[in-house]
Amino acid sequence: MKLITAIIRPEHLDVVREALLQADIDRITVSRCTGHGQASSETELYRGKKITPDLIAKTKIDIVVNDVFVKPAVDAIVSAARTGMVGDGKIIVSPIDEVYRIRTGESGGEAV
Ligand SMILES: Nc1ncnc2c1ncn2[C@@H]1O[C@H](COP(=O)(O)OP(=O)(O)OP(=O)(O)O)[C@@H](O)[C@H]1O
Ligand SMILES: [Mg+2]
Repeated sequence: MKLITAIIRPEHLDVVREALLQADIDRITVSRCTGHGQASSETELYRGKKITPDLIAKTKIDIVVNDVFVKPAVDAIVSAARTGMVGDGKIIVSPIDEVYRIRTGESGGEAV
């Protein structure tokens, strides 16, 4: 089991969800957030002085999947969220120890 966290441009949420649904992935948590990625040193200087850069509105998607769905999910997100311009976002894949479905008490892959 893996947790896929994707931070994308907010305007890409709908198309990313459609791409995930095409890959049979419908369980999702979506959060609005702000963030900052790598930036050129130019954009972090104002009149030669280093400044704390503004945070930019982003959308965070969390998806827990069984291992076989990792590649389809990542491929779907990349294909839907990529413009080729800086700021397209990031995908982080992390191992998950356990998942419990509260209603049934199931755990592990069955509960995903
Ligand atoms: N290393 C990181 N840790 C935590 N959050 C990150 C990290 N890198 C990016 N993010 C989050 O992802 C958002 C989008 O990042 P972004 O696409 O700008 O990444 P990048 O590494 O700067 O790549 P690019 O050069 O394509 O812009 C950021 O606003 C931030 O919320
Ligand atoms: Mg960036």
